[in-house]
Order: sequence, then structure tokens, then C-alpha cells
Amino acid sequence: MTQRLTIRRPDDWHVHLRDGAMLEAVLPWTARQFGRAIVMPNLDPPVTDMARARAYRERIHATLPEGAGFQPLMTCYLTDRTDPDDLALGHAEGVFTAAKLYPAGATTNSAHGVTDIANIRPVLERMERIGMPLLVHGEVTDPEIDIFDREAVFLERVLAPLRRDFPALNVVLEHVTTAEGVAFVEEGGSGLAATITPHHLIINRNALFAGGLRPHAYCLPVAKRERHRLALRRAATSGSARFFLGTDSAPHTVERKESACGCAGVWNAPFALEAYTAVFDAEGALDRLEAFSSENGPRFYGLPLNSGTVTLERSAGMVPERIGEVVPFGAGESFGWSLAADA
Ligand code: DOR
Ligand code: ZN
Repeated sequence: MTQRLTIRRPDDWHVHLRDGAMLEAVLPWTARQFGRAIVMPNLDPPVTDMARARAYRERIHATLPEGAGFQPLMTCYLTDRTDPDDLALGHAEGVFTAAKLYPAGATTNSAHGVTDIANIRPVLERMERIGMPLLVHGEVTDPEIDIFDREAVFLERVLAPLRRDFPALNVVLEHVTTAEGVAFVEEGGSGLAATITPHHLIINRNALFAGGLRPHAYCLPVAKRERHRLALRRAATSGSARFFLGTDSAPHTVERKESACGCAGVWNAPFALEAYTAVFDAEGALDRLEAFSSENGPRFYGLPLNSGTVTLERSAGMVPERIGEVVPFGAGESFGWSLAADA
């Protein structure tokens, strides 16, 4: 049985680092594991232009622990009024790596999101032309649609037409949660990929109701039935270059989670690699972990692979019940692996 595993340093292609005190609390955990991360722009107010992205990137750099070699890759929050010129300039100047589409009202701080794809056609045309990736929160917001069907309906109503209209646009279906999403990505042409979170690989929707209401298992897109979890595990461990690591680590304080209207989000950053490793181990696919974690993402984005490595070792180490004001994913349990100290 493999006891130690050394892989090229991975990246997190979808993370919420927040701002202020929360940024200070969570950034060291992400910087400990990952070389780079695609930083989500859903702050309040959101990161909608180059000036805000530059300022946010500076705050992240100022908060990094001494000597951390971590690189934040910034994204632009698309709105109905996004200026294609600002976006393209931001991409050319290396401020924006990608742009994020939140359908208005789909999730945390998405009120300023896009109300209709028709409103951003000039933006998408420009992105397609300059080779700037579009990152998609793939859920419709129509209250008539059952919350467990919102991803599948998004594929039909929004993503399929978008792919037809902008065939050369590189698109990442973020945090895919359904068998339909997996099939859509597998059958799509080149230029289509998906990130997969550790929690969607590990829990199904039963976790939300295990012995009572479990706010720490609640995120968006919400976890689905077991057959969807199994489809995600198959996709992640299949070796397909279209699937790569994106934690969607999304911290909220205990108070905001354990509330009459609890926030969506799972904070998995402290033990993200341990969680993914446990999944690949259980699937007999440890030899495919490195491609998923460290190769497929940079290749999709056209970025170099990281040069360092990290080492994981089998360990009975437990995830703490709480770290500061936030409950981490897997609290009180062990993933059976831990990041070696020399990593
Ligand atoms: O669960 C989620 N939390 N899903 C999202 O899309 C946003 C995120 C957040 O920012 O809290
Ligand atoms: Zn997210």
C-alpha cells in the first residue's frame, strides 16, 4: 500500500479567499497547499473592473505569509454592464486571468450578476477573440425549477446555446455536481472543462439531513443524489484532461452558517488535498491524482506547470472541529492522509 505520495505542486482553480479578517484567516491554508489559485470575485462590492482587481490582488499579496510562493490569479465578475474594453485590457495586462459568470441571484453576492446572457454578448465575443476563459456558475435562478435540477436545466437553457454561439470560447463549468454536467463536458468540443470540489466527491444530499439539519454541508450548487456523486468520482479519477481541481472553498463564520438563513459554502481549504487524495485512494487511482491536481488545470489555461512538489503521507490526523471562527470540511474526522511537513 502506498504510504507516501509526492506530486507536482497543485493549483486551486476555484477558491473564495474573501477579504479583511476572513482573508487573513483563510489565505495561509490555501497558500500552504497550492501554487496558484483562481480567486473568485464575489466580494461585496464585487470585483467588476481592473482597478478593483488590482487593489484586491495587492491586499492578497499583503496578507500572504512570509516567503509564501503563492500566486493569486484574478477574475472579473461579469455584470450586465461589463465594459469589453476594460476586460480585454485587464486580460492583456495580466490582471484578469478569466471572467466569472454568475447568473444574477444564483448564490452568495451574485445580486449584481448577469440577468440575461443577451446583455453580455459583446463581452463574450471579445473574450472568444482574445482567448480569455469564461468561468460559469452553472445554475438557473428560475424559482420554478427545483433546486436539485438547476444545473441540468442550465446546461440546456444557457450553456448549450452559449457553446453554439461562441464555439471558440474557452469555458469552465465550475463545481460540476451532476451526471448530466459530467456528460455535457465529456461530449463537448475542446475548450470545455469542469472543476470538481472535494465535498461533491465525498458527500451526497443525505449529508444535509444526517440526523438533523447540517448547515456546514450546505453549498451551491447543492450536493445531489448518490448517482451524481459517483459520476463525479468517475470523471475526476478517469484521467480525462477536461476535469481538474477546484475546491470552491467558501468560508463563512459559524454564526452565519448556523442561522435561520445559513450561508451557502463549505470551507475545505485546510485539508483539501487530503480530501482529494482520500477519494483517489478509495478509487484505486492515486496514479491519476497528479494530472487532476497539477497538470490538467494549467494546460487548459495555457499556463506553465508548477515546478515544486508536495508530499502526502498516510496518517490518522484529524480535522479540527473548528479553526478560528470557521468549521472546516471533515471536522472531527480523518481523511487518512496529511500533507507532509517538508512540503
Ligand atoms: O456555496 C457557495 N458559496 N457557492 C457559491 O457559488 C458561492 C460561495 C460563496 O461565495 O460563499
Ligand atoms: Zn465558488
